[in-house]
Amino acid sequence: MGKKVILSGIQATGNLTLGNYLGAINNWKKMQEDYQCNYMIADLHTLTIRNNPEDLRKNTLELLALYVSAGIDPEKSNIFLQSHVPAHAELAWVLNCYTYMGELSRMTQFKDKSAKHADNINSGLFTYPVLMASDILLYQADLVPVGEDQKQHLELTRDIANRFNAIYGETFKIPDGYIQGVAARVMGLQEPKSKMSKSSTIPNDAIFLKDEPDVILKKFKKSVTDSENVVRFDTENKPGISNLMSIYSAITGKSKEDIEKEFEGKGYGDFKTAVAECVISELRPLQEKYKELIQNPDYLEKIYRDGARKATAISENTLRDVYQKIGLVS
Ligand code: TRP
Repeated sequence: MGKKVILSGIQATGNLTLGNYLGAINNWKKMQEDYQCNYMIADLHTLTIRNNPEDLRKNTLELLALYVSAGIDPEKSNIFLQSHVPAHAELAWVLNCYTYMGELSRMTQFKDKSAKHADNINSGLFTYPVLMASDILLYQADLVPVGEDQKQHLELTRDIANRFNAIYGETFKIPDGYIQGVAARVMGLQEPKSKMSKSSTIPNDAIFLKDEPDVILKKFKKSVTDSENVVRFDTENKPGISNLMSIYSAITGKSKEDIEKEFEGKGYGDFKTAVAECVISELRPLQEKYKELIQNPDYLEKIYRDGARKATAISENTLRDVYQKIGLVS
């Protein structure tokens, strides 16, 4: 039996955060040993909000460089840009015709984003999950690593695939979600009750992967805590400290109990410094590699060209099968 197939992606918006790293990319890296991994940059999804074209191009290449600096190895994993593989948009059109308005209207992300971008509620925002379903189904993915917020889109993907298979016979593999542990749990440093977001406008709320060490230290030092001054895990009453503990635990591998013992009798100042230092040293190799890669556009181009070639070969197979089954003349 061949390796199981994984597909995941991130939109090409702005700066990645420590949350994206611990929640997604760092897990992707571990999975590339045991799975056939496809990691894409969802640049077509990025169009659902208005972008400055130069920024989009820059963000896309930066994200690619970050994938690779974080340890996604183009020799092991298939790394590509969604827009370079025509089958994504093509299958999305077909699947639009097998997805109901009612289903899409129930998507909480659509409701949230419509509220946030009330001046630009475009059709792409509405059919966003259908393009995502196409991304996944084209590769016959077994597993889709996503954050908690994408669970509903994955459920819809399964519904669309089952519906299609029921009409035309076995066509799509029904994918399972792989909800990543820490993903849902890296919270903002200033607002520890909401997810650390790359689009956060609150100063010092997010650690960006490109932040310099002194900035990282400063942000952790300023992070919101509570007045108890005891390092203890309690998300309800101590969301700030609990979040720092989760980060520390994700990087060092220490359990919550170990961390509580390690900082017994010490104040928050010491703890914050320890967390900042472990984050700084975890990110150091990534940042060094990133600075190197971003100076090397030829190498980045080689990666996305190779990736597009491989992804096109896989996705064309599925698309051809779909076209044949639904009655398009080949
Ligand atoms: N919608 C995802 C997000 O915003 C990104 C994405 C696009 C994706 N296509 C995908 C994730 C396919 C997993 C699989 O996080």
